[in-house]
Amino acid sequence: MARRLEGKVALVTGAARGIGAGIAAAFREEGAAVYGGDLGVPDGADDHFLHLDVRREDHWQAAERHIREREGRLDILVNNAGVELVRPLPEISLADWRHVMAVNVEGVFLGCRVLHGLMAASASSIINISSIAGIVGYPDQAAYNTSKGAVRHLTKSLAIEFAAHGQPIRVNSIHPGCIRTPMLEEAVDGWARQGLLDRDDPWKDVGAMCPMNRVGSPRDIAMGAVYLASDEAGFVTGIELVIDGGWVAR
Ligand SMILES: NC(=O)c1ccc[n+]([C@@H]2O[C@H](COP(=O)([O-])OP(=O)(O)OC[C@H]3O[C@@H](n4cnc5c(N)ncnc54)[C@H](O)[C@@H]3O)[C@@H](O)[C@H]2O)c1
Repeated sequence: MARRLEGKVALVTGAARGIGAGIAAAFREEGAAVYGGDLGVPDGADDHFLHLDVRREDHWQAAERHIREREGRLDILVNNAGVELVRPLPEISLADWRHVMAVNVEGVFLGCRVLHGLMAASASSIINISSIAGIVGYPDQAAYNTSKGAVRHLTKSLAIEFAAHGQPIRVNSIHPGCIRTPMLEEAVDGWARQGLLDRDDPWKDVGAMCPMNRVGSPRDIAMGAVYLASDEAGFVTGIELVIDGGWVAR
């Protein structure tokens, strides 16, 4: 059976771990040539892994040159790199706020702006990783909620803009719920230390909060990304794909 991303070229940001690593692995299994980027390059990585701080326009430009020279085009861009901030409003400094916006919002804007030219020659797909926090509010997450709401809406704006200009670039967002990654592990450790979750088995408590009685895995998100990246989703643009085990359906 033909693999679903055979012959396609992809770039995934924040690919060193968590959801980004899961998406990169699934794309490779489906036949894509996958470039990854992150703040650091993992030991043993080849020239398919780039030092790409998504806040840095010059890093994006270097990534564009690297992929153009090797591949001549880009079919799939996954803007996945992101940072979380769980802090009540009075404790969020302007520097904290700007850091979250720089990574989660400006990083996505820069990726789309610098790379869309390399994607415009043939049917291509941009996938922005937002969150259920981009749809509903949570206490102590004003900066993160705002950033993920911005990603959701930037996605819709660019989907319509590219369509209006006849550019064959689809743009969609994915909204993960609770996914077990280092990011969520840090948050869960903190809540357990504060006594908000069972100290011995905090993940059981987190699972019990989810309608399907379990947390998700990077693979759950990667399967949605494979669909949006593939030609099967050729008429899909501007959507928000919620993969959360039912969290926001309540
Ligand atoms: N884990 C969850 O439950 C969950 C839920 C909803 C949304 N998300 C979103 O999914 C995405 C991935 O999250 P995760 O849980 O895998 O997080 P993670 O912290 O485990 O991994 C994030 C990766 O992004 C990288 N990164 C951070 N800042 C960067 C920068 N400036 N430039 C390049 N790379 C950078 C990190 O080095 C890390 O490798 C994020 O956008 C996050 O907001 C996660």
